[in-house]
Amino acid sequence: QNTVRIAPSILAADFAQLGAEVRAVADAGADMIHVDVMDGHFVPNITIGPQAVGALRPHTRLPLDVHLMIAPVDAYIPMFAEAGADILTIHPEAGPHLHRSLQLIRDAGVKAGVALNPATPVSLALEVLDEVDLVLVMSVNPGFGGQKFQERALAKIAELRRAIDAGGHDVALEVDGGIKAETGARAVTAGADVLVAGSSVFKGGPDAYAANIAALRAGG
Ligand code: DX5
Ligand code: ZN
Repeated sequence: QNTVRIAPSILAADFAQLGAEVRAVADAGADMIHVDVMDGHFVPNITIGPQAVGALRPHTRLPLDVHLMIAPVDAYIPMFAEAGADILTIHPEAGPHLHRSLQLIRDAGVKAGVALNPATPVSLALEVLDEVDLVLVMSVNPGFGGQKFQERALAKIAELRRAIDAGGHDVALEVDGGIKAETGARAVTAGADVLVAGSSVFKGGPDAYAANIAALRAGG
């Protein structure tokens, strides 16, 4: 099977030391850095924007996996691309034309992802598998870290895995929300190959990051 990649979500990091936190999880074995961008409108929380992404960029060579929970999203795509994002993932509900928004992302020279909320059907992603490099299955409602993993995500991951393999698509399958060693292992069994994890990576502080990431990778 595919190698599992671990993407720590800096939503659970110390926001007063984001550069150091990114370096610490990179040293601890992270494969990408997941950056949650929230606008207080699409989701009921506010985090950071393109300026912070640009400030983080020099701190790591790992891909910046930027999860945009903002609406409308189109006008901000070039700003995040210029700031140094490697992947921009958007929600279908963030604009009237998902296909066009995904093309804007690729036109900006970065990889494109589509994110499915718990109540968003898999079929929306199936329509755009040729237009994306990543599908993100949300296993919580977006907005906050530390929520409980929703089991329904597993069936959605399995369905997407079948479609990605059947079509021979070069598309990563990422899961986000409530991922710990145990839920992560089940998501990988269902077909996920990228695990986003906030609280389970950053718990215990920098001395614990390597063990936390290793536990996720080992699935227990
Ligand atoms: C939720 C974010 C997640 C969040 C996950 O809106 O998309 O990336 O940080 O946090 P945990 O791993 O704590 O559930
Ligand atoms: Zn996220």
